Order: sequence, then C-alpha cells, then structure tokens
Amino acid sequence: MSKTREIFLCDQCGAETLKWQGQCPSCAAWNSLVKFNPGKTARAGRVPLTAGSTGSKRIHEINERDEPRISTGSGEFDRVLGGGLVPGSVVLLGGDPGIGKSTLLLQAADQLSVSVTTLYATGEESLQQVSLRARRLEAAGKELNLMAETNVESVLAETGRLHCKVLVIDSIQTMYLDSVESSPGSASQVRETAAQLVRYAKDQGTAVLIIGHVTKEGTIAGPRILEHMVDTVLYFQSDAGSRYRLIRAVKNRFGAANEVGVFAMADQGLKEVKNPSAIFLSQHAEPIAGSAVLVAREGSRPMLIEVQALVDQSQGMNARRLALGLEQNRLAMLLAILHRHGGVATQGQDVFVNVVGGVRIAETAADLAVMLATASSLKDRPLLPGLVCFGELGLAGEVRPVPFGEERLREAAKHGFRRAIVPTANAPRRGIEGLEIIPVERLPEALSSAFRA
Ligand code: TYD
Ligand code: MG
Repeated sequence: MSKTREIFLCDQCGAETLKWQGQCPSCAAWNSLVKFNPGKTARAGRVPLTAGSTGSKRIHEINERDEPRISTGSGEFDRVLGGGLVPGSVVLLGGDPGIGKSTLLLQAADQLSVSVTTLYATGEESLQQVSLRARRLEAAGKELNLMAETNVESVLAETGRLHCKVLVIDSIQTMYLDSVESSPGSASQVRETAAQLVRYAKDQGTAVLIIGHVTKEGTIAGPRILEHMVDTVLYFQSDAGSRYRLIRAVKNRFGAANEVGVFAMADQGLKEVKNPSAIFLSQHAEPIAGSAVLVAREGSRPMLIEVQALVDQSQGMNARRLALGLEQNRLAMLLAILHRHGGVATQGQDVFVNVVGGVRIAETAADLAVMLATASSLKDRPLLPGLVCFGELGLAGEVRPVPFGEERLREAAKHGFRRAIVPTANAPRRGIEGLEIIPVERLPEALSSAFRA
C-alpha cells in the first residue's frame, strides 16, 4: 500500500492544503489548519458519494426504481421536500438555536415511524429529554427508535441492525468519527461524518435527515462543502418573537428550490399552517400611513404580505436607510428612483422599511409596495383602503411586470381586497370579480392612483 498522504484541513472553511500554515490561504483564519489523514478514511475517500458506480448506461436502459416518496405526515413539510421524503436522499435542516429543528424532526420521525422503520439519533439531548419532549408533543412514539449517541459508526451500525428506512441525526455538529482526530463540530469532523452518512444513504437507500447549527452569519456551521454533499438543504426562518416558522428549500435535487412551508409553534409542537397566505397581514381598524400590502410569491404560492415604512426627519449628519426583510441596496436604489421619477425626496430623512412577520422577500415584485409605503409615510397619508399592489421598478421609473400576475390578483380578491395597482402587462384582460384593477406604466401614475381622493 502506498504511503498515505497527509493533508491539512481548515476548521473554518474546510479548505485543504498540503502544508501546515499559520493562516488558512483560503479564508485567512489564523491557526485553523488541522492535520487530516485521508488514509485512515481511505475507503471513505474513494467511494463515490453517489449511488452505484457500474459503468455507463443509456437513459432508457436505466431502471427508475421509482420508489414512492414517504410522507412525513405534514403536508407543509412534504411540500418543501418536493412531495415527501425520497428514499436514499440526504436532507440538511439548518436554523438558529431554539427555532424548532429538533421539534420538527421528532414530530416527523414519529409520523414516519408509523409506516417505515425510523431511528432518531441525538447527540444533543439525553433519551429522557427526548422522550419527555415526545410526550409533550403527544407523539405516539410507539414505533420510533431513539438513540443517544455521538459516534456515527455506532449510529450507522444500529441503523443497519434495525434496517431503518429513515435516520434522523440531531445534530451533525455533535457527531464524530474515531478516525478523524479533531473535535466534534470541527470542519474535518463535520465533513467526514456527513460523507459517511451520505454514503450510507446512497448504498442502503435510507433517507437521512441531518440537523445543522447555523453560525452568526447564518450559514450552516462547518464547511460549505456540506451543502454540496447533500441532496436537499432546508433553512428554518422566523422573526424573533413570532410564532410562525418558515422552512425554505434553498437547494433541492428532488423538488423546487425556494419552496416554502409554513408552521406555527404551539404548546404541542409545530402545527402546519395550511393556508398561510394572509398570516403576515396585520389587522388595522383604520387605514394607516406607511403601510402597503403586497402580493408576493413564496415558493409556489401567492402570499399577502404587509410592507411598512417609517420616514422621519434625520437627527444626525447621515440619514439612515434600514431595510428589514428586504435587500438593503435595493432600498437605496428604490429611494433614488422615487426621488428622480416620482418627485418624492427623502434627503435628510431616515427611512426604515420592514416586512411584517419576519418574512424575507427576495423578489423584485415588492418594489412598488416599498415605494408606496415610503411615499405614504412621508406624506402621512394612508393609501386607498383595500389596496394591494405588486410590480418591479426600473431605473427609468417604469413599472415592470412580474410572473404570475393573475394568480396574485385572485389571491388578493379571495381575501377581500378591492383594488390592485399592477403593471399594465399584468392586468388580466377579463378582469377579476370584486377587484378594481389599476394598471400603471410608470411610477408617477402609481403614486397618484394610490392616493386618489
Ligand atoms: P427545539 O426544537 O429544541 O429547537 P432547536 O432544536 O432548533 O434548537 O425548540 C425549542 C423551542 O421550541 C423552545 O424554545 C420551546 C419551544 N417549544 C414550544 O413552544 N412548544 C413545544 O411543544 C415544544 C416541544 C417546543
Ligand atoms: Mg435541538
């Protein structure tokens, strides 16, 4: 056998180097390189991470095993997974501490165990703690196998012994492999334990759900490589203090990325919110200034979301612009468009924009709502009652169409909205019952129709 090559792995970013250095050449962290001997996990290193390597085949020769997806018992969770759990797939669930990762997967594991053999392996809590929680969740728990263990090899041995179809790992940062020298949670441990789990999933067809902690920056702790290794990456999001939880698929080999599932944290664990389209609206008795309702698309469905703005005389030298739930730079751009093309100046004013409910909006369809809310706060005049809007703003002040206009409008009508300011190209030819459609081409039209007397 040839001499095994020794390499060094950065604990922060997972980068490999051949020589030890004081500083990682990739992420510039100090003293983060640790010795790593791939020889010890040689078998591991060479076996491909995807299933079956038996030469090439034509597509039509390949037998799709077409294994049915396994339902997690929660429509919302199945939805983000792309229609249920795929056998042999590896799902990574990330999120802040205390957001409900363990709760969600314990509930899901409990439901799954009714139809398939399931093992929940925890390195975070004792068996007593987990079973206490299970009781609190009123999880039947009769069929679910629990294990408190941090050695991945022991977990996999047990999984094999029980012929499990589903394995839950809580969390990857507590797991370790004997053959890797660094401590659990370090980049090399995370990388190697995850590789071991992925390999097992692909070999045995066991679906593996892995919980991962997130760092302050909001990415899953440990090397980025983890996200590349797994099939699906889900993130748990929520606003501080809000009981609603969103699970977003940021990567999914078996479904649509960006799909969203909505849950509410209750006394008995996470309850799915089946019809979440209006939960992010606050109820105002009277129309208030600085508030605009947007029909956004989250994943594959429309949602009504309130955008609030507060424009106030700035006290300091530099006016502040703060966007919560929106991209900061986009706000700066929108304020420039509002000034140049809408004649609404915000110089010397602090501008705060917040998306209600802790939702993060990535789509440009929110532009119009941000502008109208800002203008409304500045003028201290509420927008027309029962108004929704959506549309992207161009640098020339034009209001540009967004995808799925009609679907958004139908959702708004369903929730009792009476008027909608939309890009002209999004106005449906037939109209929508109960909804006055106000098509606009440019920003000034949008501003004047939003405040019509
Ligand atoms: P947990 O699943 O332990 O979070 P994570 O694994 O992501 O760290 O969630 C713990 C939080 O959820 C805790 O603050 C209490 C709350 N919770 C409820 O409100 N209701 C419940 O039924 C359960 C089990 C937890
Ligand atoms: Mg936990």
